[in-house]
Amino acid sequence: MVKICCIGAGYVGGPTMAVIALKCPNIQVAVVDISTARINAWNSDTLPIYEPGLDEVVKKCRGKNLSFSTDVEKHVAESDMVFVSVNTPTKTQGLGAGKAADLTYWESAARMIADVAKSNKIVVEKSTVPVKTAEAIEKILTHNSKGINFSILSNPEFLAEGTAISDLLNPDRVLIGGRETPEGKKAIEALRDVYAHWVPVDRILCTNLWSAELSKLAANAFLAQRISSVNAMSALCEATGADVSQVAHAVGKDTRIGPKFLNASVGFGGSCFQKDILNLVYICECNGLPEVATYWKQVIKVNDYQKTRFVNRIVSSMFNTVSGKKIAVLGFAFKKDTGDTRETPAIDVCKGLIGDKAKLSIYDPQVNQDQIQRDLSMKKFDWDHPVHLQPMSPTSVKDVSVVWDAYTATKDAHGICILTEWDEFKNLDYQKIFNDMQKPAFVFDGRNVVDAEKLRKIGFIVYSIGKPLDDWLKDMPAVA
Ligand code: NAI
Repeated sequence: MVKICCIGAGYVGGPTMAVIALKCPNIQVAVVDISTARINAWNSDTLPIYEPGLDEVVKKCRGKNLSFSTDVEKHVAESDMVFVSVNTPTKTQGLGAGKAADLTYWESAARMIADVAKSNKIVVEKSTVPVKTAEAIEKILTHNSKGINFSILSNPEFLAEGTAISDLLNPDRVLIGGRETPEGKKAIEALRDVYAHWVPVDRILCTNLWSAELSKLAANAFLAQRISSVNAMSALCEATGADVSQVAHAVGKDTRIGPKFLNASVGFGGSCFQKDILNLVYICECNGLPEVATYWKQVIKVNDYQKTRFVNRIVSSMFNTVSGKKIAVLGFAFKKDTGDTRETPAIDVCKGLIGDKAKLSIYDPQVNQDQIQRDLSMKKFDWDHPVHLQPMSPTSVKDVSVVWDAYTATKDAHGICILTEWDEFKNLDYQKIFNDMQKPAFVFDGRNVVDAEKLRKIGFIVYSIGKPLDDWLKDMPAVA
């Protein structure tokens, strides 16, 4: 194996290939994309995505065995192994709209591979796809193959944004699914050899194609389900005086449950959880399993409920109206240490507040004004299409300003919403912020990052998800 190519230079393709290049100096790695802007950014000093540790890895390998290019066909033709890491958004139109995965980008990549290939290739599904996609891809490739052999593998990616580089360097597991034929086994071995450069072999799991495809959807569904479970508990905690952190700690001490991923919050976001569960729901429905579909659908319903509940809490606490009031929004990314805003709960919370005529002043250390305006004006599910196909200059949303520090955002505000758990929000000068705000001054902590008691001593009215309520909040119940 001498050359690998990855189609799709996004959050998955870029970091994954950079780490392969770092750990396999004998392999040439090319990352290709149809978006010139993205490729130019990968070739510049300002990478298109923010991810701790990524800059260092790219700098070490770029120009040696790692390259970024828009010449998709050339690099695909020259490669022995082609990863496909393109978007697999939720369909917005037609059969399965709002649930099924849209495989347009995947299919066009597969057709292009078949078109330009002049030698045998291993094609690796890196994108998250519905179970059985490999069969469709295999058909497209073999029916257009001109005598060339293609082996299909499923190698879903489990990295989490914000910790992508350490996840890739030290993965819990690498999953490789392939056909149980001699050629299939040979292809699995070739990919296993790549990962074996740095991943212990007992962490490289080899399965059949369908298990690998389905495991990725299942893993995301289980993770999201944990968040919805603890968030559902947070509502009950507020109603009863229990404290969700104490409950989660006690529950997580059970080794069968474990302590991770049990933080109550305003809701999960990110490009994958909702999309992949909707996809799972659709697959269940198509396979005649409506009860299973309903079970997983509920994970998304609770997530939506949590966001609505948060907005209602804000409005009801502030005398049942936020019309004309300045609300500072601290954090817009879907979690800390990323600039990614795809499906961030901040979008729904901001839209809810705008719907009640609030004036928003938004600050996130990694998200700029264009991105926030685009997110707030875009239709549901439209975001997950190649960047260059997204509207470039949306009409800006009225009553939203985006600023570059927390003190400007909060000055003269009536309330503060914390929507991302950036570390810097823990250590702001809240006394100064309080002095500069309208009174009564509210903090609605959607990530439980601030020391609520300390803030109450300063004079704030504080709402923390799933924690015992201030008397003020008890007197102003939110109707979800
Ligand atoms: P992304 O949107 O950041 O990147 C996809 C890239 O593919 C875009 O730059 C787009 O221009 C390019 N592209 C689309 N069609 C193309 C074509 N025909 N030829 C060349 N380039 C093309 O998406 P992201 O986040 O990297 O996700 C990719 C896949 O990986 C999705 O299926 C996602 O569900 C999955 N995934 C994402 C994770 C994440 O944390 N973002 C984690 C694990 C899996």
